[in-house]
Amino acid sequence: MSTVMHNDLTIIDNGEGDEPVRERSTAPLFASVLEARLDRRQLLKGSAGAAAIGFMGLGLAGCNSGSDSDDNDGTPPPAAALLGFSAVPVNSLDVITVPEGYSHQVLIPWGTPITGDFPTFSVNSTGADQASQVGSHHDGMHFFPINDSSVDGLLVLNHEYIEPRLMHARAQGVALSGGAVPPLVAGKRPADEVLKEMNAHGVSIVRVVQGANKEWQVQPDALNRRITALTPMAIQGPVRGTDFVKTKYSPNGTMTRGTLNNCGNGYTPWGTYMAAEENWAGYFSNSGDNPREHAAYGIPTGSNGRYGWESADSGADEYIRFDASIKGASAIEDYRNEPVCFGWMVEIDPFDPDSTPVKRTAMGRFGHEGVVFAPAVEGRPVVCYSGDDSQFEYIYKFVSATNYNSATASGSLLDTGTLYVAKFNADGTGEWLPLVFGQNGLTPANSFTSQADVLVNTRTAADLLGATPMDRPEWGAVDPANGDVYFTLTNNSRRTAAQTDEANPRAGNPHGHIIRWAETGGDHAATTFDWDIFLFAGTSGEFGSAPSVGQDPKGEQLTADNILSSPDGMWIDPDSRVWIQMDSGATDPFGNCAMLTADPKTGDMKRFLVGPLGQEITGITMTPDQRTMFINVQHPGDGTSPADFAAGNYESTWPDNSPGLFPPRSSTVVVWKDDGGIIGS
Ligand code: FEO
Ligand code: CA
Ligand code: CA
Repeated sequence: MSTVMHNDLTIIDNGEGDEPVRERSTAPLFASVLEARLDRRQLLKGSAGAAAIGFMGLGLAGCNSGSDSDDNDGTPPPAAALLGFSAVPVNSLDVITVPEGYSHQVLIPWGTPITGDFPTFSVNSTGADQASQVGSHHDGMHFFPINDSSVDGLLVLNHEYIEPRLMHARAQGVALSGGAVPPLVAGKRPADEVLKEMNAHGVSIVRVVQGANKEWQVQPDALNRRITALTPMAIQGPVRGTDFVKTKYSPNGTMTRGTLNNCGNGYTPWGTYMAAEENWAGYFSNSGDNPREHAAYGIPTGSNGRYGWESADSGADEYIRFDASIKGASAIEDYRNEPVCFGWMVEIDPFDPDSTPVKRTAMGRFGHEGVVFAPAVEGRPVVCYSGDDSQFEYIYKFVSATNYNSATASGSLLDTGTLYVAKFNADGTGEWLPLVFGQNGLTPANSFTSQADVLVNTRTAADLLGATPMDRPEWGAVDPANGDVYFTLTNNSRRTAAQTDEANPRAGNPHGHIIRWAETGGDHAATTFDWDIFLFAGTSGEFGSAPSVGQDPKGEQLTADNILSSPDGMWIDPDSRVWIQMDSGATDPFGNCAMLTADPKTGDMKRFLVGPLGQEITGITMTPDQRTMFINVQHPGDGTSPADFAAGNYESTWPDNSPGLFPPRSSTVVVWKDDGGIIGS
């Protein structure tokens, strides 16, 4: 993280747009070392045939994946090779590299027109144009098939943040860093620049169809939609209508405008999309006293937010709301509560273009990386998991109060239920601690006045319960074969040796790891679980300068075929392939950020795809037939120095390779197997 002063605007540049660090004390930590954990891990695996039947041998009843079907003769089927491709070597090229026998295509780069009068993308596109174009910094994504098709559907994707210097003609030739904005005009930001930046955030809903040669294209369609930092949204759940979210815009605390910093995503059992609000705090400023619902989330205390939106020269209400300082006589005369309207999971119905997105407050307020739902079971609660991606933050799960019924299920299931936070014990067991007002010290004696208060201050409540501070929880995934839950822990440079514990055993953790657990009895609503570490990211040990050696799911040292750093995006496909995506600042010896695939049964892992320069790989979804994969490439050329930017020398020119006309652009990439087979097979 660095602070860049530019024309009196202080831009907090968190590197990859991320993770404000809150100063906080951590809960008591277990004193333990890596070797002890590994001993325990070997013990756990010892009788399980090298994890051949899944972690701890636990499985969910009735969850048989198609590829695991038995011939019912009493013998297990022969192990099919889940990873049928040859590993892609590490590289530092400005291209997409896929395995032999695969092809790829760039689809919907930032600026692609999808609605309205389909304005052509250029650096001169206006703020209004951007509202009809695909946003920037593609992230979490899901393919919603139309009529169960695998060649026609809605691609729904998040736009996490922006690179202002790429967006405005006035920035060209100016020595700007990736997070800096063009020079202010009379101390203000031109309002149309702010509008353009807000409209490049949010979510895109795009109908895409497969045509000749397996290539996909955008189809103009009434369902195509942009949701932005300005779109009206409803507040639902226990926080709705409370004093915490009353603003000048919504004096009764039921509505807000926009969603911000949508990182990972989720998709519900009833066919809607969930966008996570991750590093939303930095967009605001509060130059007065920060209450805990601001301070615990890192709301900047200076005079401006991340992009100075509050200083738009028009002074319009939708811009000045980013200054959360107390200005009026009461909360309904200013925007002191605007930051409390962010930090939630947002539900969007992609098939209803007139629907109002909904912020589901019962799922808690934090730096939501994403959300993953356990397979829905008729007559049982709906369960989903979400990580809070900052150093020493927590992993949560939500369990609905009402049981799932596929005929009637809707987002209202997410408005009533119990939010839990995870505690990972040293002995490999774990507990889900309920964040319920009136229980476990979440009482007026500790300054909690209601369930809404607990949810608005989720981090503070979780601190009080003694949850386990993690090494930056990013995406989660659930293995459809046995219900095991996986979470990436991307890295944590600030964890000291004294702060290590069994679940976060590496001091300074530069490359991250992946943790997984099995809920007791295979019941996702259970309040206890057994956990293990799936893999440690890192080097193969052949690189003297690299500080940390990785281990694959078998506990063996990583090799040239599978070294990785900073696992972030993750998804487990219907055949139980674990897809793992890198968001790493470390390039040597890892090369460009890549995507790998692991087989949880054999422990094998291979690199599947390498991206271009200066980006991260994120977002992953497939068509139902698993013959088309969509992934996202975010912030190519992110490492371009201010001097190189001024000279027009981008670190990357991907995907257009036409730097005079196009900057590097975040894009979706479509991948298919030339023989038409299942991706990864
Ligand atoms: Fe937006 Fe935690 O990555
Ligand atoms: Ca991420
Ligand atoms: Ca990340």
